[in-house]
Amino acid sequence: MNAEGKLIEVMHGVNLDMLGQRDPEIYGTLTLPQLQEEISRFAAEFDLEIGFFQSNHEGEFVERLHQLRDSADAIVLNPGAWTHYSWAIRDALEIASLPACEVHLSNIKSREPWRSTSVIEDLCLESFVGHGPGGYKMALERLSDELGRGS
Ligand code: DQA
Repeated sequence: MNAEGKLIEVMHGVNLDMLGQRDPEIYGTLTLPQLQEEISRFAAEFDLEIGFFQSNHEGEFVERLHQLRDSADAIVLNPGAWTHYSWAIRDALEIASLPACEVHLSNIKSREPWRSTSVIEDLCLESFVGHGPGGYKMALERLSDELGRGS
């Protein structure tokens, strides 16, 4: 009953490559490579294999989701602003048919009203918002439990 060796893809969408430079009061000071290092440490705690993907191009993000259907066991995604309106990414996540968790560094539910909508929320096992990098650890733990359940 464990998820050892399962492959989780951690996907970052539009503008998340600018972490470290964009509003540190909201998003913290870590750059994306530093955040990914931290996520790798979390994954090691749960004996999970990890892959990373970032794109500022919606079509590339969609095509990566298509590939994951056959190449990963689960998905952690922070699509950035696409979260709030991209029905294309929602459809692609549905096509991927994998257990998924949504993460946002900031609390999208307590910022501008337009950010409180997530078009992927109901496809995800759970959403972790406003916990900074710790949200990725929570998501990996949730997915580890989910994947372990089936083995
Ligand atoms: C974000 C929240 C989004 O509203 C925003 O557009 C981002 C980052 C977050 O991690 O808090 O780019 O997804």
